[in-house]
Amino acid sequence: MKRIQRIGILTGGGDAPGLNAVVRGIVKTAIHAHGWQVYGFYDAFRGLVTGAGRWLKWDDVSGILTQGGTILGTTNRDNPFDYVDDHRCPDKRRDASGDVVRNYRKLKLDALVAVGGDGTLQCSHKMSKLGLRIVGVPKTIDNDVRGTEWTFGYNTAMTTATEAVDKLHTTAFSHHRVMLLEVMGRTAGWLALGSGIAGGGDVILIPEIPYQLDNICEAIHARCRRGRRFSIIVVSEGAKPVGGGVVIRQTVAGSPEAVRLGGISAVLSQQIEDRTGIETRYTILGHLQRGGGPSPFDRYLATQFATSAVELLAQNKFNRMVCVQQGRIGSVSLSVPGQAPRLLEPDSHAIRMARSLGVCFGDE
Ligand code: F6P
Repeated sequence: MKRIQRIGILTGGGDAPGLNAVVRGIVKTAIHAHGWQVYGFYDAFRGLVTGAGRWLKWDDVSGILTQGGTILGTTNRDNPFDYVDDHRCPDKRRDASGDVVRNYRKLKLDALVAVGGDGTLQCSHKMSKLGLRIVGVPKTIDNDVRGTEWTFGYNTAMTTATEAVDKLHTTAFSHHRVMLLEVMGRTAGWLALGSGIAGGGDVILIPEIPYQLDNICEAIHARCRRGRRFSIIVVSEGAKPVGGGVVIRQTVAGSPEAVRLGGISAVLSQQIEDRTGIETRYTILGHLQRGGGPSPFDRYLATQFATSAVELLAQNKFNRMVCVQQGRIGSVSLSVPGQAPRLLEPDSHAIRMARSLGVCFGDE
């Protein structure tokens, strides 16, 4: 097999702290350990469709380890197989995968590193069937990519959300209020569970365990009876009542992740106040969770993923995704992340641990 000389890299989907750490790790290892050239595509697969990007030099990635966001830009709207050239004309769609293959060949790339969540990794798997040699790196603050126990970005977002819970605690205590913090996570409850446990939340509502309003209100009343006149609820944007649906903020036609959730905390806070008579407020943490520099854990994980991705390429192992399994860095087939999001098991250790502390999940 031909020795690798040139690789491409793209960052796709919603941004997450640690993307720049991966770009840095890939470029430095590719140049330092192998003498390869690295082409950075702008704005995820859009850059591959149009060819927009640049050859990345050592200096381009020097000093970006601690920076949030991505120097390459990203988007979670563009799917090369259902592509919109101009978002002002969203109905003019086409299959642009041929353009991707053409630009990959025009740049004489030997392989591509795709850094993204399940949408980007699924597209990458489809592109690999058209002849591109790809290694995927799993990213998302949601921690829901199938095939890996950790994605980079999650630890930083969980830290941000936990700090928010800590701040809500002091004001909830002073005003004797119920305070809801809505966190992201799509259909998975990892962020709510992680920050809820780390912040000492009283009620944690996650998509995997539908809630009943009565149970939440009873947990709040029980705390009042014990002299605790405030309660903290951490609610995942994808949480839903038993027999009910999620609250949708926006639908982005054609996007690999079309449904954008948000707003459950507003609905629930009104219901709780009406039912309990206790003043109830909500905060939607939103994109603060995705912003800022990566935590030391995420810098480390992103760097491990980057060097392992380059190692796979050097060994001519393609169409794999780097991952963490049983605490060790490894790789799985690129077909795995597209299967379904990795959700919390309702009887997992973390949920049992929270229940044993008296945390209410709204189901009992
Ligand atoms: O997948 C990452 C994520 O931040 C989700 O937690 C959230 O539901 C979604 O992206 C929000 O997307 P957008 O930035 O397009 O609103």
